[in-house]
Amino acid sequence: MIRIGVLASGRGSNLQALLDACGEGRIDGEVAVVLSDKADAYALERARQAGVAAIFLDPATYGGRNAYNMALAETLKARAIDLVCLAGYMRIVRKPLLEAYPGRMLNIHPSLLPAFPGLDAQAQALAHGVKVAGCTVHFVTEGMDEGPIVMQAAVPVLEDDTVASLSERILVEEHRIYPEAVRLFASGQLRLEGRRVLGLY
Ligand code: GRF
Repeated sequence: MIRIGVLASGRGSNLQALLDACGEGRIDGEVAVVLSDKADAYALERARQAGVAAIFLDPATYGGRNAYNMALAETLKARAIDLVCLAGYMRIVRKPLLEAYPGRMLNIHPSLLPAFPGLDAQAQALAHGVKVAGCTVHFVTEGMDEGPIVMQAAVPVLEDDTVASLSERILVEEHRIYPEAVRLFASGQLRLEGRRVLGLY
């Protein structure tokens, strides 16, 4: 059983997908702590409802980004977390945290990377006029949304799509592939060969 720490800034629907998958035994692991940089993140409430430790770490009380990332790393280490999952965490992860969890941090991004990294990925996809959009689970490295890709899922872009309708269609796939990627990590199946993640099939 691996111990999973989730970092979230918002509503936490991906956190919920991970909580559900662990609860139903689909992942050989448990969400042991949820950390947020936002006091009112609904993700914290979801954690509490699931009986999981929910911790707000206020970035304003630390002396800069590195100190904040050090505090995150220490909090995760103190709880013996094996895998860190970013789930709508709206800050760039800095070295002190990355170095504490090399190859043990995943993120979900709402585009088919390497297309449309960064903010508002679904709006970027719509504005670009792509016909296929989707989501990506990847390992977290220093570059934003750049790490080795674990899993992707595609959805069609429809002519009458809005950012909201496209986001909703992508989110269904996020909730499917994030738990699946974590399941594979937890069962020790994933291996890295350069940028390629193998052991999925
Ligand atoms: C998701 O679209 C995720 O891909 C992105 O931020 C959003 C978070 O949604 N990184 P939620 O908080 O998991 O509901």
